[in-house]
Amino acid sequence: MRADDASASPLWKRINATALAVDRLNDLSDFKSSDVNFRLALWNPHTNGVRYLKTLIYNLCAALTPAQLARLATIKNRGEGQPISITYEGQSICMDYLQALYEIEFVSAHMSLEEADVLEIGAGYGRTAHAFLSCFPIASYTIVDLPNCLELSRRYLSATLDAEQYARIAFMTPEAFSRGAARFDLCLNIDSFAEMEAKTARNYLCLIDATCRCFYTKNPVGKYRDASLSTALKRDEAALALEMGLLREVLDIHDNRAVAAQRQKFLAAYRPGDGWSILADGWAPPWSFYWQAIYRRCPAGKAGEK
Ligand SMILES: C[S@@+](CC[C@H](N)C(=O)[O-])C[C@H]1O[C@@H](n2cnc3c(N)ncnc32)[C@H](O)[C@@H]1O
Repeated sequence: MRADDASASPLWKRINATALAVDRLNDLSDFKSSDVNFRLALWNPHTNGVRYLKTLIYNLCAALTPAQLARLATIKNRGEGQPISITYEGQSICMDYLQALYEIEFVSAHMSLEEADVLEIGAGYGRTAHAFLSCFPIASYTIVDLPNCLELSRRYLSATLDAEQYARIAFMTPEAFSRGAARFDLCLNIDSFAEMEAKTARNYLCLIDATCRCFYTKNPVGKYRDASLSTALKRDEAALALEMGLLREVLDIHDNRAVAAQRQKFLAAYRPGDGWSILADGWAPPWSFYWQAIYRRCPAGKAGEK
């Protein structure tokens, strides 16, 4: 090989004049988390957020069974709203519906959804409702939410479900729900009690105690103050988030033992009342600090922890 064949390409000449410039190599104390290593490795989190999300989705898809992929395929029109997706075994798959899949599988493993009356408090745009109504012959699905998200889920679900499925949904404001006397087989609360004031979440738990037979919750086990994540949220919103919910202890959310140590507090905080037992609980992947639990109202005279 001639000497000039081994010389730096224009690209690497530029890199050696910028990220890897010799004067930037004087202090190597944190080089693995700086531009020096970000230029050598593939995973700079600041510029590669979408790459990370897609890589995570891809890896989660690689762990799905054929039955899970088939179940996802029964949820039609998941492309509505142009989600960030990857293609796996010919299907376009995004993070929201992977989570919906995990949720419906956890719940349906512990109770029958046939002809069930389901209540969801805080449904966002309606991904969970879309999944439940597509996968199970449920009788009714009531969404209780603030007016803006109610409008969003109304529009989204009317665009994604067929007319017969959509007709089974009732949309309700929190005020209308607290005045009503309807009964439900199952209440779902996913990532929303933790964003309400504690007294609001407690009030909902009392209403669940009075009106529901089973309760599934998936929420964070606590709060975090991680400077490396601080760009992810606007600072004023982050400060408000620290004050919300029933579990406000700050922990290292990327320490599995610290997360698991919050289990009992989570189970106690989300138990709707004394007369409820825990059917199952566990870590709620993929986010490190989410826990999930399903509770059932005990038959009369059998109140207790388990
Ligand atoms: C972070 S989003 C989660 C949405 C959805 N469960 C999901 O996981 O995609 C929180 C949801 O809780 C709703 N929410 C917030 N405060 C509420 C309240 N006081 N009553 C009912 N819903 C509320 C929001 O409008 C939103 O739909």
